[in-house]
Amino acid sequence: MIQTNRTISGAAEVTRQLADVNALTGGTREFAFTRDDFDRIAKLIHQHAGISLSPIKFDMVYSRLARRLRATGDATFSDYIRRLERNDHTEWETFVNSLTTNLTSFFREAHHFDLLKDHLTRLGKPTARIWCSAASTGEEPYSIAITCCELYGSMMPPVEIIATDIDTNVLAHGQAGVYSEDRIEKLPPELVRKYFLRGTGSRAGDVRVRPELQKLIRFSRLNLLEPNWPVRGPLEAIFCRNVMIYFDKPTQYTILKRFVPLLRPDGLMFAGHSESFSHAVDLFRNLGRTVYGRADSSR
Ligand SMILES: C[S@@+](CC[C@H](N)C(=O)[O-])C[C@H]1O[C@@H](n2cnc3c(N)ncnc32)[C@H](O)[C@@H]1O
Repeated sequence: MIQTNRTISGAAEVTRQLADVNALTGGTREFAFTRDDFDRIAKLIHQHAGISLSPIKFDMVYSRLARRLRATGDATFSDYIRRLERNDHTEWETFVNSLTTNLTSFFREAHHFDLLKDHLTRLGKPTARIWCSAASTGEEPYSIAITCCELYGSMMPPVEIIATDIDTNVLAHGQAGVYSEDRIEKLPPELVRKYFLRGTGSRAGDVRVRPELQKLIRFSRLNLLEPNWPVRGPLEAIFCRNVMIYFDKPTQYTILKRFVPLLRPDGLMFAGHSESFSHAVDLFRNLGRTVYGRADSSR
């Protein structure tokens, strides 16, 4: 608790200092951006998307949203914030898209995909349903799809993958399935040959995932904070990796509680490398290597 208070007051101090620097260098910014502006924006994104913006994101928030002020024609951050408070739906979508962090890669935390293979083999169910709940630009759901194709030795494995994210830009990217070649350079050449098409002409330097992989995945927008999730259970696995770190513990707990009835009793929930749910042991049991099972299952 003391630790938490220290962290909060330390964070507040950093914001204050950054705001002071900003005030001093205010003339060099196109728009004035105060600590109060930052705090109001942080509050809005936290309420809407659960994302906690650390004060060290002060400059990032400024540069990403200054673009929005230019686009909307708002003269000040206060005007822009008022636009959001008036519930301008189009702007809300762009605002959220501007503030998400979408870092991802193919086969990130690769051991999870080996564990998924073992899990699906053990279950031996006719059709597996897997939810990738913070899919970003699609590398994660495509890695799941490739894993399933490899497991079943078929481009049409009995699997349905639901890929969701709050950010509509990254979803569009995932749906298109086009990546620059450097995104797949660490993949084994035989996987590249089997699952990607190389661009030619004006698309040279890009790769596109094979259409068979795209058919296995349904991309749609889903805010983990919203009350209605258009996802049905039972699911064999839920991937919820590297998104909970942006949420506070009560928000994490609420989301985890909603995962439980969607996941089969012997299903698996995959978390990110720095995420730990020791505050939700009544919901999920740590099976090691950031994989969790339902606490009420004897698995
Ligand atoms: C760092 S990326 C992680 C991507 C992928 N899961 C991985 O581990 O490589 C975090 C993703 O969470 C999404 N996100 C943030 N808040 C969200 C929310 N409230 N609901 C759904 N997705 C959210 C972001 O848009 C972003 O694409």
